[in-house]
Amino acid sequence: MNQRTCLSVILAAGEGTRMKSAMPKVLHAIAGLPMVAHVVKAAEAAGTTGLALVIGHGADEMRKAAQKFAPKAETFVQEKRLGTAHAVLAAREAISKGYDDILVMFGDTPLIDAQALAAARQKLAEGAAVAVIGFRPPSPTGYGRLIEKDGHLVAIREQKDCSEEEKKIGFCNAGMMAVAGKHALRLLDKVGNDNAKGEFYLTDIVEIAGAEGLDVVATEASFENALGINNRAELAEAEAIWQARRRREAMLSGVTLIAPETVYFSHDTEIGADTIVEPNVWFGLGVKISTGATIHAFSYMTGATIAENCEVGPFARLRPGADLRKKAKVGNFCEVKQSTVEEGAKVNHLTYIGDARVGAGANIGAGTITCNYDGYSKFFTDIGEGAFVGSNSSLVAPVSIGKGGYIASGSVITESVPDDALAFGRARQKTIPGKGKELRERFASAAAARKKAAAE
Ligand code: UD1
Ligand code: CA
Repeated sequence: MNQRTCLSVILAAGEGTRMKSAMPKVLHAIAGLPMVAHVVKAAEAAGTTGLALVIGHGADEMRKAAQKFAPKAETFVQEKRLGTAHAVLAAREAISKGYDDILVMFGDTPLIDAQALAAARQKLAEGAAVAVIGFRPPSPTGYGRLIEKDGHLVAIREQKDCSEEEKKIGFCNAGMMAVAGKHALRLLDKVGNDNAKGEFYLTDIVEIAGAEGLDVVATEASFENALGINNRAELAEAEAIWQARRRREAMLSGVTLIAPETVYFSHDTEIGADTIVEPNVWFGLGVKISTGATIHAFSYMTGATIAENCEVGPFARLRPGADLRKKAKVGNFCEVKQSTVEEGAKVNHLTYIGDARVGAGANIGAGTITCNYDGYSKFFTDIGEGAFVGSNSSLVAPVSIGKGGYIASGSVITESVPDDALAFGRARQKTIPGKGKELRERFASAAAARKKAAAE
């Protein structure tokens, strides 16, 4: 990789009014990660060594969020939105530290990929002073047009400042560029605001650098790389593109998706080869799946870890801390939270396992509930290896069932059960011969008597 140092300046001062949201636009998520964090990730993958986040609207919220997705980033507040060049200069202090490359990106353009950024940086390594990332949108209206001559970029003309002839150009400014660090501040300081919008345009540095005799070039990226998000419809569009990319990546890495368009990943989903995912599955944040698992239809999981060859669902709900070891099974309409289901254990039907350990090879019958909560505190249930819990049992935590313990169906277990013991926690059955018939006759004659009395 490129050995040069690099500062990424991410512009995120805009208000994003069209999102109609109390939250800053760039904090809206794609695949569970704020869109500006996607930009940070791309910058990191392109080898950035420093990060500067230019914020304005919702600065406090932005700073707080940045601590999570970019703890090393410096934040700079742009008090007034006077244009993209003005915004970059808000990070003057960081730029003046002397980086080889300065990458400028927008926080609302989340699908930019590292390759496009690296390609622009490569141009700087080859001697260019400025490398602009261009793209060809289906309709160029609204974008800055890239005006090239003999393989060099001579100007970027904003839509509002374009002549009729220039408006016909299809090659547009994606908004991102790489600028040689040694020239950056000098070029930016020369930018004026004599244009249709009265803003300090970052794009003006192209002509300024050209006038100094410096080399300026354009690279080309795909349309998706430049997709800017202004409203929630575009947010959903970006989500769809992200999901399509991720599904393809999963399939090419050996995961079978029977109906890929119905499976949703998070930005941090890990999923191993030979896993089969049936339709309509949701992988929320923090899911790690090893190899060979089968995830049946309509399962929903967050924060779960699934070891080799497990079977999950259909209609399983795995919540944070669900830890399924090799060959464990969690089946139909079961919910598992903050619990380990050890090797080969089976939790197959209509069960809630919370704050528990299900020992290796244990079998949990249909309708079993760990009663882990008294309204104030959570308590632990320990189920030993090879235990058998009969259907419709309630295990009132804190409680433990020893290895090989056997729980009769319908039990309410409030006291711990030793290894290999049988526990009943229910009334014993009593059978009285003939009593059913006698009752039926008694009830029938009582009903007839009432009917007769009502008629009189
Ligand atoms: C910009 C480019 C245009 C390009 C287009 C691609 C300029 C002058 N124009 O136009 O050539 O085709 O992006 O989408 O750069 N921002 C701030 N502070 C400011 C101004 C902007 O932080 O003072 C941020 C915004 O929040 C936004 C980004 O910079 O994320 C771009 O600003 P915007 O006003 O949307 O630029 P465009 O007119 O779209
Ligand atoms: Ca824009």
